[in-house]
Amino acid sequence: MATSSPRSLPLLGDLPAFRRDRLGFMTRLAREQGDVARFSIGPYRVWQLTRPEHVHEVLVTHAERFRKGPVLQRARVVLGDGLLTAEGEHHRRHRRLLNHAFHPDRVRGYGQVIVERAAATTDRWSEGSAIDVHAQTVRMTLATAGTTLLGTEVEHHVDVVQAAIDDLLSAYQLAFVPFGWRLQHLPVGPARRLRRGRRALHGLVDRMIAERRASGVDGGDLLSSLVLADPDDALTDREIRDEALTLLLAGHETTANALAFSLHLMAEDPELEARVHAEVDAVLGGRRPTAADRDRLPVCRGVFAEALRLFPPSWAMAREAVSEHPVDGQVIRAGEVVVTPQWVVHRDPRWWDEPERCDPDRWLPEASTTRPRAAFFPFGGGVRQCIGEGLAWTEGVLALATIVGRWRLRSLPERPLELDPLITLRPRDGLWLRPERRTT
Ligand code: HEM
Repeated sequence: MATSSPRSLPLLGDLPAFRRDRLGFMTRLAREQGDVARFSIGPYRVWQLTRPEHVHEVLVTHAERFRKGPVLQRARVVLGDGLLTAEGEHHRRHRRLLNHAFHPDRVRGYGQVIVERAAATTDRWSEGSAIDVHAQTVRMTLATAGTTLLGTEVEHHVDVVQAAIDDLLSAYQLAFVPFGWRLQHLPVGPARRLRRGRRALHGLVDRMIAERRASGVDGGDLLSSLVLADPDDALTDREIRDEALTLLLAGHETTANALAFSLHLMAEDPELEARVHAEVDAVLGGRRPTAADRDRLPVCRGVFAEALRLFPPSWAMAREAVSEHPVDGQVIRAGEVVVTPQWVVHRDPRWWDEPERCDPDRWLPEASTTRPRAAFFPFGGGVRQCIGEGLAWTEGVLALATIVGRWRLRSLPERPLELDPLITLRPRDGLWLRPERRTT
C-alpha cells in the first residue's frame, strides 16, 4: 500500500508536484493508484477518494466521522465561525437561522435583482474590443449577493470588496506551506496582504451592522433579519459579521466562475451556441427573463450544469477524519485528511460518456442514466451541502439567458483559457472574449 506518491520528497512530500499542477496531480494520482490513493503534503497524510460511493460515505452517510479539512480550518482566520467553517452545534443553529433566506420562494424573489444586474453589466459592453468576462461576472454576482443578502450598500463598495478578496487569495499559498499559517502575524508580503484584506472586509461589514442597529430599518435582506431578530434567535454582532462575510465570499465568485465558464463553452462550440440562442429566442421572444422563466430554459440550465461539471468552482473538497473510517479494506485514521476531487470524478469515463465534451442533453429531464448520484457533486453533499445551491442555479440560468439574449461572445485564439485552481477553480488572468451584439 502506497502512503505517498513515488515522487514524494522528505518533509515536503508531494507539495512541489501538487503546487506545480494541482489538477494534473490529482488526475495522475487516480490513474496511477486508483479510487483510493495516498499522497502527502508537508505533515499531512492525505487520502484521495474518487469512487462516488466513497464520496457519498464521507459527505453524507458517515459525515460525523469528519470535520472540515485544513484549508477551511485555516480560513477561520478570515471567515471566523461562519457557516462554511463552523462545526457541530454552532453550525446546526446558524444553518437553521440562515435557511429561511434561501427558501425557494425567497430565491424566486431574487430573480428580478439577478436579471437587472446582468442587464446593467452587459449594457456597458461595446462591440469590437475583448472583455474579461470573468471580471464582469464577478461584479455581477457580487452586486446580486450584496443586494439580496446584505443590502444595497455593498454595490457602492464593490472595488473595496474585490481588492480585499485579491489580498486574501494572494495569501492562499500560506495554507499549503507546512506551518505557513503561523506566519500570518509576521511582516511578510502575503501575511501583510491577508491582514489588510481582512481589515477592509471586517470594517465594511461592521459598519453595515452598526448602521442597521442604529436605524432599526429592515431592508428586506438577510443582514437586516439577523440584526433585528427576536432576542431568542439573536446572534452577536461578531457572529453576524462572520455569517455576512461568509455569504459574501462563498456566494459570489463560485457562481461567477460557473457563469464565465458557461460563456466559454458556448464560445467554443457554435452549434451549442445556436441551440441556446434558439431556446432563449423561442421562450423569451426578445424580452428579459423573469423568475418564472427559470424552469422553461432547459438548454441554458444544461450548459450551466456542464460548466459545473467540467469546471467545478469547488474543484476538490477536503475533510479531516475525527474517528476511524474504513474504505476498501483499509482504514483512514483520526487526524488524516481525505480529499474528494470533483475535478476527477466529474470527468471519469466510467460515469460520463465522452467526459470532455460539453453536452447539455445529459441534463434534460427525459435523459435516463444509471450514473451514481455522487458522480456529480458541485455543491458538496449531506448536512454541509451548499446553502446557496438554489440561488446559484437561479442566477446561472437567468443571468445566462439575459446575456445571450443580447450578445454573442467570440473566443480569441490568442487568449486561450488557462485554469487557476485556488480556493475556487477560476480562469488564470481572466477569461477574454469578444462581444458581438445579436441582431436577431
Ligand atoms: C455555482 C455556485 C456555487 C458552488 C459551486 C458552491 C459550492 C459549494 C460547496 C462545494 C460547498 C460545500 C463545502 C464543504 O462541504 O466543504 C458549499 C457550501 C456553502 N456555500 Fe456554496 N456554492 C455556490 C454558490 C453559493 C451561493 C450563491 C451561496 C450564498 C449566497 C453559497 C454559500 C455557501 C455556504 C454558506 C456554504 C456552507 C454551508 C454549510 O456548511 O452549512 N454558495 N458551496
